[in-house]
Amino acid sequence: MKTYRAGVIGCSRMGGFIDNEVIGHSRIALPYSHAAGYTTCDRTDLVACADLRADVMAEFGNLHGVPAQGQYTDYREMLAKENLDIVSVATQPEPRAAIVADCANHGVKAIYAEKAMAASMADADAMVEAVERNGAILNLGTNRRWDEKYDRMKEVIDSGELGTLQHLIIYNVGTLFNTGSHFLDLVLRLNDDAPPEWVQGYLPDGDSMIDGDLLFGDPQGEGTIQFANGVRAHVLLTARASETEAICSNGTITAFNDGRELQVRKAEPVGLRGRNELQIAPAPQTSPSSSTLRLIQDLVRALDTGQPPRGGVRAARAGNELIFGIIESHLLGGARVSLPLEKRTTRMVRDHTPRQPKYKPD
Ligand SMILES: NC(=O)c1ccc[n+]([C@@H]2O[C@H](COP(=O)([O-])OP(=O)(O)OC[C@H]3O[C@@H](n4cnc5c(N)ncnc54)[C@H](O)[C@@H]3O)[C@@H](O)[C@H]2O)c1
Repeated sequence: MKTYRAGVIGCSRMGGFIDNEVIGHSRIALPYSHAAGYTTCDRTDLVACADLRADVMAEFGNLHGVPAQGQYTDYREMLAKENLDIVSVATQPEPRAAIVADCANHGVKAIYAEKAMAASMADADAMVEAVERNGAILNLGTNRRWDEKYDRMKEVIDSGELGTLQHLIIYNVGTLFNTGSHFLDLVLRLNDDAPPEWVQGYLPDGDSMIDGDLLFGDPQGEGTIQFANGVRAHVLLTARASETEAICSNGTITAFNDGRELQVRKAEPVGLRGRNELQIAPAPQTSPSSSTLRLIQDLVRALDTGQPPRGGVRAARAGNELIFGIIESHLLGGARVSLPLEKRTTRMVRDHTPRQPKYKPD
């Protein structure tokens, strides 16, 4: 079996060091960073990395075994010299589209791009175009798509034991690009990636961040999404962080605390009059496994077999469009916005200073 040559662009927290922030976390199994995922996976070799910050990259090289000659401050030089099969783009979203397009144009066959996919829909479309034209594949780092806990939730929905899926609720979608990208992707995944038809949205603090087509921050958002298969999703901003619910015609399944516990309730006749009430029923449970490793293994399987990956560039684009759908609806005073979006020019342009990664666990 071939061992794939992997490289990481963006060697900060998610690229290389976030494992040090989550050791002992009850819901996250290591490896979590891209680099730790590649060094754990027995089918990938981490051979190169690129970052604008040479000091951060040197620490990354020490931690993950990438020698100085495999470290580049210009990722294009890395692409030209290293003959990479899989490349991670773990930068912030603003520079992501150009880097992903360069990777695909250089012949990289598999890309692991962090979320949110892109800072505009124009950028997202450019990524789709470059990836598909070059016959590459892309998985977005929306980890819940590869999280076994949510696989169990989806299996219960898909089994039909609760009837037909009707509503999905995300109790705290958070800021749209940072956490919203995760949970909007989860909505798509739980609903079998059905196409969305329209979105209505509201950004509580959005007006202070928007000037014309420019978005100067990552806004919190709420909204409703109608899907072509009749399912409606409600993405809320409540104190129930990281909780998700699927309401079906004959029952519900709820993921508490980011899926650490699943609860199933089924409609059962109770009492003398035999009226249906929701009763707690047995629910599948699973211990945490590494969603990052599963995402990388999915890319490896897709490269081995030529089959599509679980995510793919189109699903990534769909999630990005939900983010921008909520924003565009807010800009129109909460009007219903049809998808696909016609307007593609709104762009996030934050003044972002990269974070200092945690080189060692506490
Ligand atoms: N999937 C998850 O659970 C998860 C968790 C944390 C962060 N993230 C995502 O990962 C991404 C990165 O987050 P972070 O906190 O590690 O970011 P960060 O801002 O700390 O670091 C980004 C790094 O990219 C580098 N960079 C920027 N432009 C570059 C270029 N042209 N060439 C090479 N390097 C370049 C910067 O120098 C910096 O080191 C974000 O999109 C974030 O949302 C995902």
